[in-house]
Amino acid sequence: MLYFVTGNKGKFMEAQGIFKDLMQKNIGYTEIQADTLEEVAAYGMKEVMERLRGPVMLEDAGLFIEALQGFPGVYSAYVQKTIGNSGILRLMEGVQNRKAYFRSVVAYAEPGMEPRLFKGEVHGRIGFEARGTKGFGYDQIFYVGEKSLGEMDLVEKNIISHRAASMKALKEWLDGR
Ligand code: IMP
Repeated sequence: MLYFVTGNKGKFMEAQGIFKDLMQKNIGYTEIQADTLEEVAAYGMKEVMERLRGPVMLEDAGLFIEALQGFPGVYSAYVQKTIGNSGILRLMEGVQNRKAYFRSVVAYAEPGMEPRLFKGEVHGRIGFEARGTKGFGYDQIFYVGEKSLGEMDLVEKNIISHRAASMKALKEWLDGR
């Protein structure tokens, strides 16, 4: 049994595609304002380890847009809540370089062990319009190939996504011990 500390149902469903014996723990933790996802995840894990006994993971992700020097990056949650996908499309109006990537950092720990971090990225581009009805967050404006992530079902997204990559890296490490 592995605990996944998250309040995000979409994240949890994606993780279920990778880990068979998973339990969602919606207990919340402090997401510090820092320059990297790694710092946010590591700090969150320290807090979570004081409250949960047992194998546990949490995950912090962000969208990094090249033409915006990596914005929204570590501010992705706040930007999604405030200006949202339409705000990002507006910021990108007239911008030729649409390159962007998602980055995911998973922190894993169990009692008596120093937390470990696992990372994953998916590179793609910001489209000119939102498309699709699946996924969450920035999925509908982030394209890989011809499709937005919002047009992909869970299985398709889990083949290419940043989160699938970081979680598969954790899974491989767990299976290899
Ligand atoms: P956090 O990891 O929950 O802090 O996510 C930061 C922001 O990025 C939130 O607004 C999420 O909705 C968004 N986000 C994280 N992962 C994804 C994803 O896989 N697709 C689209 N948006 C995402």
